[in-house]
Amino acid sequence: MTKNLFIALEGIDGSGKSTQIKLLTKKLQAAGHKVYATFEPTDSRIGSMIRDVFSGKIELDHKVIAGLFVADRLDHLLNKSNGILKMLNEGYTVVTDRYYFSSYAYHSPYMSMDWVIEANALSAELLRPNLNIYIDISAEESMKRITKGRTSTELYETLDNLKTVRTLYLKAFEKLQDVENICTIDGGKSENEIADDIWKKIEELSQASN
Ligand code: ADP
Ligand code: TYD
Repeated sequence: MTKNLFIALEGIDGSGKSTQIKLLTKKLQAAGHKVYATFEPTDSRIGSMIRDVFSGKIELDHKVIAGLFVADRLDHLLNKSNGILKMLNEGYTVVTDRYYFSSYAYHSPYMSMDWVIEANALSAELLRPNLNIYIDISAEESMKRITKGRTSTELYETLDNLKTVRTLYLKAFEKLQDVENICTIDGGKSENEIADDIWKKIEELSQASN
């Protein structure tokens, strides 16, 4: 199986990305990959500023938030100690919980999608995922999952917004279908079934590049 892949998991909040990153990491390791599992917003200084916005600690205009994600993503790629490019160079397969499609979907209610795509053009030029995996669940299912056991929700976590974000993900996939490798997985299945569906896609990817 091809090593050294860059895989991005996408989906609305609560779609099961972090659950699947864990399962995928185990499967990749069992297949002999060195795996670096990572996420956006990152845990850098820029990422923690973003988290302060989501928790309501600081307030910023949505356009500024979109700009912070552009910077956070570039640092995610270029950071000298643990940037994705460095990890790929060292032979790791990198799996990320969110990448630029999250920006296209989450920020386009506030500015044109083309602006968001342009603003992230340098990241796309530096590194496109070998595969973008979209875990598809409805906004209703998302709200059920993310409100369970929680007393508060974050910015962007409302039913109406998640419906919009889901529609915008689909719009972005259509817009970029000629330049991006994208697959959609039914997120309503059990965790293990989804993990199996994802694994099939990774195997297909490896076969295609051999
Ligand atoms: P995300 O990282 O996309 O926000 P998580 O993996 O944290 O999503 O999952 C959100 C919630 O949904 C968690 O409570 C998790 O246990 C649950 N969950 C994850 N996958 C499934 C699934 N396939 N079916 C039902 N619940 C799930
Ligand atoms: P995350 O911690 O992945 O939340 P979850 O586990 O619930 O999916 O992401 C936090 C929020 O950041 C989420 O609502 C989506 C948002 N986000 C953007 O608005 N733009 C972006 O570019 C990214 C990567 C995330």
